[in-house]
Amino acid sequence: MAKIAEKYLKVDPWLVVEEGFHPDRSRVSESIFSLANELMGVRGYFDEGYSGDRLVGSYVNGIFDEKEIIHAAYFLGMAKRFCFMINTVDWLYTRIFIDGEQLDLNTSEFSDFIRTLDMKKGIMTREFVWTTNTEKKLRLIFTRMLSMNNANMGFQKVEFIPLNFDGSVEIESGVDFNTIHELENKNFFNEVKRTDDGQYAILCKTLNSHQQLFSSFQIDADAKLQPISREKFVGVKFSLPLKSGETNSFVKTVVNYADREKDTDSDLVWKTATKLADKLFKISFADEYSKHIKFWTNSWDRLDITVEGDDENQQGVRFCIFNLVQTYHGNDPTLNVGAKGLTGEYYYGWTWWDTETYCLPFYMFSNPQAAKSLLEYRYNTMPQAIERAKEMQCDGTCYPMGTIDGTESCGTWQHGNLEIHVTAAIPYGIWHYNRICKDKDFLYNKGFEMLLQASRYFASRGAWGSQTGKYGYFGVMGPDEFHMMVNNNCYTNFMAKKCFDFTLEVFDEIKTADFKKFNEVISRLNITDAEISDWKKKSENMYISFDQDSLLFEQHDGYYNLPYLDVKAIPHTQFPVYNNWEYGKIFRTSMTKQPDVLLFLFFYSQQFSKDILRANYDYYEPRCSHESSLSPSIHSILACDLGKVDQALEFSQYASRLDLDDYNRNANQGLHITSMAATWMNFVYGFGGMRSDGELLVFNPVLPQTWKSYSFKITYLGNILQVSVKNNSAFFRVLDGDMIKIKVFNNLYCVDKNGVTVSF
Ligand code: BGC
Repeated sequence: MAKIAEKYLKVDPWLVVEEGFHPDRSRVSESIFSLANELMGVRGYFDEGYSGDRLVGSYVNGIFDEKEIIHAAYFLGMAKRFCFMINTVDWLYTRIFIDGEQLDLNTSEFSDFIRTLDMKKGIMTREFVWTTNTEKKLRLIFTRMLSMNNANMGFQKVEFIPLNFDGSVEIESGVDFNTIHELENKNFFNEVKRTDDGQYAILCKTLNSHQQLFSSFQIDADAKLQPISREKFVGVKFSLPLKSGETNSFVKTVVNYADREKDTDSDLVWKTATKLADKLFKISFADEYSKHIKFWTNSWDRLDITVEGDDENQQGVRFCIFNLVQTYHGNDPTLNVGAKGLTGEYYYGWTWWDTETYCLPFYMFSNPQAAKSLLEYRYNTMPQAIERAKEMQCDGTCYPMGTIDGTESCGTWQHGNLEIHVTAAIPYGIWHYNRICKDKDFLYNKGFEMLLQASRYFASRGAWGSQTGKYGYFGVMGPDEFHMMVNNNCYTNFMAKKCFDFTLEVFDEIKTADFKKFNEVISRLNITDAEISDWKKKSENMYISFDQDSLLFEQHDGYYNLPYLDVKAIPHTQFPVYNNWEYGKIFRTSMTKQPDVLLFLFFYSQQFSKDILRANYDYYEPRCSHESSLSPSIHSILACDLGKVDQALEFSQYASRLDLDDYNRNANQGLHITSMAATWMNFVYGFGGMRSDGELLVFNPVLPQTWKSYSFKITYLGNILQVSVKNNSAFFRVLDGDMIKIKVFNNLYCVDKNGVTVSF
């Protein structure tokens, strides 16, 4: 891959460390040092303000605003309403003065800068020594924490250690709703209500979506607090005495509360929020800190991955796991995982098909409740998907390409309207979740209806080819976004077929297992026998272009005839090609953006022979530009399967350190959260060789030559299974729970707490 690592962070197994401030990489660091707790997220910006290049980004999951999409030319079916996660309250707002001089790392003199993300504890710290104009030296240590125990709570601790003087430091601290949403260059809040009379709180409302966000704080310091107020800001001023060599400090506890409904009565929101704040402010930082640490200890106990002999990959994979847990852990089924999580404005906080195809396995195998919540999000947004299908002049549910509230926000026609494979991701997710978590309650009460509606969509969107006489999808864009408006995209056809097949399977299953439920759903949706036969016929006659001789699947009609481009010869400076190539040029060669055929070969691995995989991998991999960050991990997984372990390792290094080393040169915009889930798969499904598409879990581990060992843990049917690989042998052991049946290199094993060793 023509990508280059930008290394400036220290490699450490549990920490991410920036030694010495790198102003030229300020925004990249802000992304990398982000903290989140599913509800809130903050970039690693400087609490005290900074006049250099920065994005003071603070986000609350599900808080968005909206605007009308102005199309140069509007055609029916194009999305009209654009929702985007907005920059919210800067609850870390702090300003620091000595003798009237303001601290600002862009202009102040400072030394010994070190910024640290402790992934084991979920804490970010930053410290440095500030030398004032009058040569006073003050060491400052900032600590921040977003509680994993109470998602509404955030903490900031600032410590001051004067090194050569006695005196005082003046501080302004508060919660500030004046933040600018950079992509729109606009602030999106109106103030509704405030108090600064002993309690400090403010309620603001978004301009158009009319959601409300409450923010309040409490300062724990040995000082007299003086309120300072201005529009959309509530804060205090205070002074702390300083004695040379001694530490003085303050702790700011913040409680944020979001009401995501439109126009809820503000008095009611205020009442609920202040009651919550009163309760939470009774909790000390120390108590919350210990619960927060406990959360992380429990999480790492369940899902740590260790790598011996590759420090960079070790740090990289932990960074990915850390961010996945931070972004989502299933507390709230109305929330989801944005492509950039809560770390930046790009990708608008939208949920994509990434959730079911790339993220779900991570959650299914570490936190099944979170996996269920993600699927429930799709269940809860079915009404919007039904409306969207109608707009597209189809039946059933058409799920959006990019969304926050379930409606389609993607106004780029070729993506929002043509990437119909997005709807196939939902049945795939339900199928996979059912297979692994065996949650019949979800399947019967929610999944079944979702499957029926998705099949309805696929039965109404396709057509019969006039030459082939086969059913397929015309005028689509597959996962490979470098080919627009193609016919019979193989991935789309294949996944739609799988949707029909699984729907029909579940249809039969529920009919026998729970006829009452079956009848209720079938009559409510008015599913007829004719419809069921139609789906069967369309599945049986789905056009899948497979050649018995070459063993290749053609990505779409006419793909083989496209001009060949040597992707590896493109200079790295031309990436991302979206920014460097005339738009149309991207679409007229065989170059692909990301796996397409290879993706369904991975999803349903056990259905295909090694020869088929090899033929398609050897054909499609050289044509892939990996412009999507979702791409390298899938290639790495398949390369492991084919014994191309060196190549797999190369892909995995890129995948696990995509943001840490800024390979795509866009980490400044936020972290690639959904591709971090692909990195997790890279280790478990790639090196670990796990497959989860059969009746039993299957493992075919490989060990890269340069690694001494690796290990990972998965949660499966309530048990925790540990897999450790070293010296050409794999050790499987149940750490917590009963016996699990697995297949390793085609042999059946019953694994319990004593463990089983398999040599290879
Ligand atoms: C990819 C899509 C993906 C989106 C969000 C795009 O670059 O091509 O497949 O859904 O990013 O991650």
